[in-house]
Formats: sequence, structure tokens, C-alpha cells
Amino acid sequence: CDDRELVVVSNREPYSHAREDGEVSVDRPAGGLTAALDPVMQTAEGTWVAWGDGDADREVVGPDDAVAVPPEDPAYDLRRVWLTDEQVEGYYRGYSNQVLWPLCHLDTAKLTPREDFWSAYRETNADFADAILDSTADADRDPVVWFQDYHLALAPRRVREARSDAFLAHFWHIPWPSWDVFRACPQYEHLLDGLLANDLVGFHTDAYCRNFLDCVDAATDARVDRSSRSVSYRGRRTFVRALPLGIDAGRQAALAESDAATEWWAQFRETHGIDASETVAVGVERLDYTKGIEPRLRALERFWAENPEWCGNFTYVQKGTESRSGIPAYDALQDRVAAEVERINDRFGTDDWTPVVYTTDHLPEEGIAALYREADLGLVTPVRDGMNLVAKEFVAAQTRDPGVLVLSELAGATGQLGDEAVVVHPHDAAGFADRIGDALSLSRAESRRRAADLQREVHAEDVYDWLESTFETAAAIERGRRSVR
Ligand code: G6P
Repeated sequence: CDDRELVVVSNREPYSHAREDGEVSVDRPAGGLTAALDPVMQTAEGTWVAWGDGDADREVVGPDDAVAVPPEDPAYDLRRVWLTDEQVEGYYRGYSNQVLWPLCHLDTAKLTPREDFWSAYRETNADFADAILDSTADADRDPVVWFQDYHLALAPRRVREARSDAFLAHFWHIPWPSWDVFRACPQYEHLLDGLLANDLVGFHTDAYCRNFLDCVDAATDARVDRSSRSVSYRGRRTFVRALPLGIDAGRQAALAESDAATEWWAQFRETHGIDASETVAVGVERLDYTKGIEPRLRALERFWAENPEWCGNFTYVQKGTESRSGIPAYDALQDRVAAEVERINDRFGTDDWTPVVYTTDHLPEEGIAALYREADLGLVTPVRDGMNLVAKEFVAAQTRDPGVLVLSELAGATGQLGDEAVVVHPHDAAGFADRIGDALSLSRAESRRRAADLQREVHAEDVYDWLESTFETAAAIERGRRSVR
């Protein structure tokens, strides 16, 4: 990217501004992809285009809707796209999260293909594209535009129509379904047309790449070349690649080792009455139906019922983050999880033991790292997940007495971590409960060996490795193009 203008585009912004007690404060990226891309953008001095949803976001931008970030040492522009309430409802809550999200997670019963959702998605993608075009209009260098995720499937086509010189890449962070499932979405042709305006489309796994190529083959007149994993369509070639996303494993390990983590854990244990001798399992996720929280609670319930010797000394800590509230399926899930936790605690709990410690509080990063570090088991058991970075965070945080990763066979991460994790099927409550027992009875030497292998993996294939592979792939595509010109 050295001589190119880099533009990252995502729905969520890396910094948001809020007004607190009359003062404007900045919310920073707390881990995850935005935190990993931020230093890249600081070096590249490019532009990041994202939805400005902070309540004070408009107060700090210039006439071009951009603010220089990071605030204390500005290095790049954050260009904000403003959404009306109707757009938030139709584009974000509607089409993105009630059509594309359930579609790609194979939950077609939840598909809500309303026409107004689709028109808001189209309109908002056009707004994003226009913001990109506007912010690259004066650039002397050809832009490299890097789209993130399913909110922005149509924007690449609109950018391409105006900038045939741009290099467009898109990373799809969630699964890509098979053609049989994908065709349940009435707008499938438009979505593929949008994505095929990119030069590079990346997914976490080979299976998602194959599914994508199958969909293109079935739904369009494009020429699909499976050996080079590329698609020729409307006069251009799109390369499709598996680029599994990693985490900042070094940072996660440092958080786990921090004094703040140790202090936080001591406080948390005291508040929730978790005895130092207890065995602890942990689950950390957004309250999303794809994360498998309810089937996991059922498996735990079964485990306690079948293994009463573990009642009183095996506690499950569930951190749930409220997410996408206002969408009926999410509101209902929040209520059901709270009710299930209460029911299980009523069934097994005693005066001095709470089986499920459930919190929806905001926890500091050190707190989450402490939970991972102290847990004997990490339960990462989604019913469907593109990758699942919590599994990798849990592994990286095992800096002391290593805990065992219990992983769903339906998570993308299982392709990389499945050999050394205890793998479960999230819907097989009996098998899942048995595997919890197996995981708890692994010898210390065995769990150390597994943790060491897993750590090697998450450190080797971390987010920096992902960035490097992405940029190298893009550069190789460019070189190939130049050589045939
Ligand atoms: C998933 C998606 C991300 C999204 C995140 C949080 O990981 O792949 O694009 O940002 O969920 O969801 P939210 O709707 O709060 O952005």
C-alpha cells in the first residue's frame, strides 16, 4: 500500500465522540478489529469511513464530515457517514441484521425480507460509496479501498463505477452459506453483483470461499475458475481467498498478566462469592442467538444434574453483552437467557453457591482477560460462527495454569483450533455435558500440552499475520495485472 491511498470502510467507527457532563469525550477501540486496524491506519495516514453514531460525533467534524484521529496525535481522517433514524432501522437493524445476518448464519426462519429494509440498505450503501468517492476525489494516488463485512455488500459496485483505477477489497467477517441457503434471499443477484466489483473478496475459511464461488456460478453469468479461485464478471476479475482473522495475541497475554487483571478478579470473586477452590468455566459473548448461549445453559444444567458431586464447586460465569437491542429476536433472547439463568440457579443454587454467575455489566478488558486466565474451562460453543475470536482470546490469556478450550464444531475457529480443543456439538446436550466432564478430568500435563499447541497457533496466525497476508494477496493480484497489461 506504500504508494496508494488507503481507505478502510466499516459500519462501526474506530472512535466515537460522546457528551458527558458538558464535555466531549472520546470512546476508543477496545480490542477487536477496529483496534488492530487503527495502528495500520496511523501508519498509512489514510481515511476511515464509518457510521457516525456517537451522540457528539457531529460536533467535532469539519465541513467534510471528517475528524482527525487519534485525538491526541492525529494521523488519519475518520470520515463519518450520517444515518437517519429510518436508515438505522432499515439498513442496520433491518437488512443487515434481520436479513444478511440470519441468512449467512443459516437461520432462514429469522429472515425478514421487507422491501423497506432493502431500500434502506441500498440507499445507505450508496451513501457510504459517495463518502468514499468524495474523500478520494483529490487523492493523487490511486486508492485502495478495504470494505469490512456484510453491511456494505453493495457499496463496492458504486465505487467501481466511478473509479475503475481503484483497488477494491472486501473482507466478509461472517460465514458465507451454500447456494441452497443463499437463494432464500430475494436480492441474491444484487448482493453478488456488488461484491464482484471488488478485486479481492476474503473469507475466514476455504468452505466459505467454495460456497461463495458456488453461488456466483449458480446465480450469475460470471465465469468461475475454481483452480485460481477467481471470477470473471463484467470485464473484471475478482479473486476469492481464505484469510482467517486472528487476534492481537501478545496484547491479550499482556492484559491477562497485568496487575489490573489480578485485582479485578479478586474483586469479582468476592462480589459473586466464588470460592478460591472452585472450578470455574467461562463464556463471553454478545447476546446473540448464533452464540449458542441457551443450548450451553441446557448442557450445563444436564451436567450438574448428572454429576451432583460438581454442585457447589463448579461455577459457570457468563458475561453477556447487550447487542442489537430493538430487534425482536435479540430482545427476546435477552429475556430468555436471564430467565434460564434464574431457573437453573433456583434449581441447583444454595445459600453459598450460585451455579451461573451472569453479568451484562460492561467489563474492562483486563477483567475479561482475568476471567479467561482464571477459568478452568472456556466454553465457546456457537451454533454458527464465521470464526469466533473469543476462542483465540481465551487461548492467548492462558498465561498461568492453563484452562481447557471447549469449542463448538460449528465455529470457523474449529478448523484452526479443533485438534487441541475439546470439540462439542452445541445441540447435543448429552454429548456436550459428557465433554464438560472429559475436559474437567484432563490431566494437568495434557491440558498444558494442548494449551501450548493452541498458543503457538494463535500467536503465529495473529491479526498482524492476517493484515500481512491480506496486503500480500492484494499486491500479488496487482502484480499479476500489471504483467498482463
Ligand atoms: C460481528 C460482525 C461485526 C459487528 C459485530 C458487533 O462480529 O461481524 O461486523 O460489528 O458483530 O455487532 P454490532 O451490530 O454491534 O456492530
